[in-house]
Amino acid sequence: MTSSDRIRSATFRSKIMSADEAAALIASGENVGMSGFTGAGYPKAVPSALARRIETANAAGQRFRIGVWTGASTAPELDGALAEVDGVHMRLPYQSDPTCRKRINAGEMEYMDIHLSHVAQTVWSGFLGKLDVAVVEVAGITEDGRLIPSSSVGNNKTWIEQADRVILEVNSWQSEALEGMHDIYYGTDLPPNRKPIPLVRTTDRIGEPYFRIDPAKVAALVETHASDRNSAFTPPDEASCRIAGHILEFLEHEVHKGRLPKNLLPLQSGVGNIANAVLSGLNDGPFEGLTAYTEVLQDGMLDLIKSGKLSCASATAFSLSPDALTELNADLARYRDRIILRPQEISNHPEVIRRLGVIAMNGMLEADIYGNVNSTHLMGSQIMNGIGGSGDFARNAYISIFMTPSVAKDGAISCLVPMVSHVDHTKHDVQVLVTEQGLADLRGLSPKQRAKVTIDKCAHPDYRDALRDYYQDALVRAHGKQTPHILEEALAWHVRYLRQGTMK
Ligand code: COA
Repeated sequence: MTSSDRIRSATFRSKIMSADEAAALIASGENVGMSGFTGAGYPKAVPSALARRIETANAAGQRFRIGVWTGASTAPELDGALAEVDGVHMRLPYQSDPTCRKRINAGEMEYMDIHLSHVAQTVWSGFLGKLDVAVVEVAGITEDGRLIPSSSVGNNKTWIEQADRVILEVNSWQSEALEGMHDIYYGTDLPPNRKPIPLVRTTDRIGEPYFRIDPAKVAALVETHASDRNSAFTPPDEASCRIAGHILEFLEHEVHKGRLPKNLLPLQSGVGNIANAVLSGLNDGPFEGLTAYTEVLQDGMLDLIKSGKLSCASATAFSLSPDALTELNADLARYRDRIILRPQEISNHPEVIRRLGVIAMNGMLEADIYGNVNSTHLMGSQIMNGIGGSGDFARNAYISIFMTPSVAKDGAISCLVPMVSHVDHTKHDVQVLVTEQGLADLRGLSPKQRAKVTIDKCAHPDYRDALRDYYQDALVRAHGKQTPHILEEALAWHVRYLRQGTMK
């Protein structure tokens, strides 16, 4: 089947053009809302064509830059290509591209890191100014002109509604079986007209399988046949397996105590290899009838669906390894009843997350002895990726878990420090910390009680005594105050690393 077969509406077919022609419709200085979430469903052709155009403009001495708003991270053909030619003046809300990261940390690109659930409403409110163009990948267009979403939903509903002009990429590589998998909710509004979101179970469908679009807004239609970017998961290392083991033991303990039902509560699992190791652990564990209310569906989630342990998964995007993606696309119809893809303002909605009682599990870079968490900045200043959905979930979860190996860079960095060098999640949103050393259950503890448990359970043995010494000194010098710190020493570990290459 070609892309043209995917365009069942004659009105839309008349707008077909090349990626270069479509890219020529975007002007310097415009804000462009692009589809894409964790390497799924991003436009494959127009951003690269635009990057070529920007390169030519730059060579001619004309500064050509745009604002790029997406769902979350995309791919080298989008973030990478545009960052390479220095074509982005403002990027939001989440990225993980190395070239982009380099530009941001060199002060050459502005980056606004924002909770993923906030993006749509921030745009609806007009806080970010005008959205000029939307560039959105879809899997097809129906006879009556509705859009079949692709492998991610992200902010596409908002981009299509808010942009003056819409460029659509119809990607015939995406499986036709995606049709019917999405649930696009059209009931959101701004205060004071907001109504409750009628979603009370992960399986609830509250919207429609298609995006609505005003055909008059469609400026171009570009046909593509290109795969999503996807990176392989490395097999879980020993630290990840141990972290997963601690979490599984904790969940069993909570069931035993009657604080969680036998099939747990809806799971949210962050990105990365540790999260995937936890999901593998669940596949070998005792829990049945699991559900997931999460942001991305990674390999581990698919394995849980295949094994029958996970009955339903709700998310906004796929984030699969090449092997898992091939398997999914070959057999997508089989998964369709058990997977729902929603706009990210719904997959990450605080109201829904709180109502469902999600168990949130996210990665972090470092935590401090009181349980404040840094997920985004290396040594205080340098952005890694962004907060993503971790804040949406952590603040509103029934149980909020953060995990990391206890050391980084071959032991030169302790991921447990006296004071974090940047705060994304305050201690109020952090209930459980886990490293390969152990699990610190911080619920019901005061800051001083937290410090003892955190150091005892989570610190690497190479740093444990030093952390205890810091805490004991702080207790004395702060005269037992609520959250004891020695301000002139609190960040000395980071300073030592920056000067000497080790926190030791
Ligand atoms: N200080 C400095 N560097 C650190 C560090 C620390 N405390 N901890 C880890 N690092 C380095 C690692 O050495 C590694 O460096 P490298 O890329 O040069 O090898 C890099 O940071 C990534 O570490 P890694 O352990 O591989 O991280 P990860 O893939 O498990 O990701 C986060 C961890 C925090 C970056 C990631 O979970 C993230 O971006 N989280 C925020 C968004 C989020 O939670 N999204 C999910 C919500 S649904």
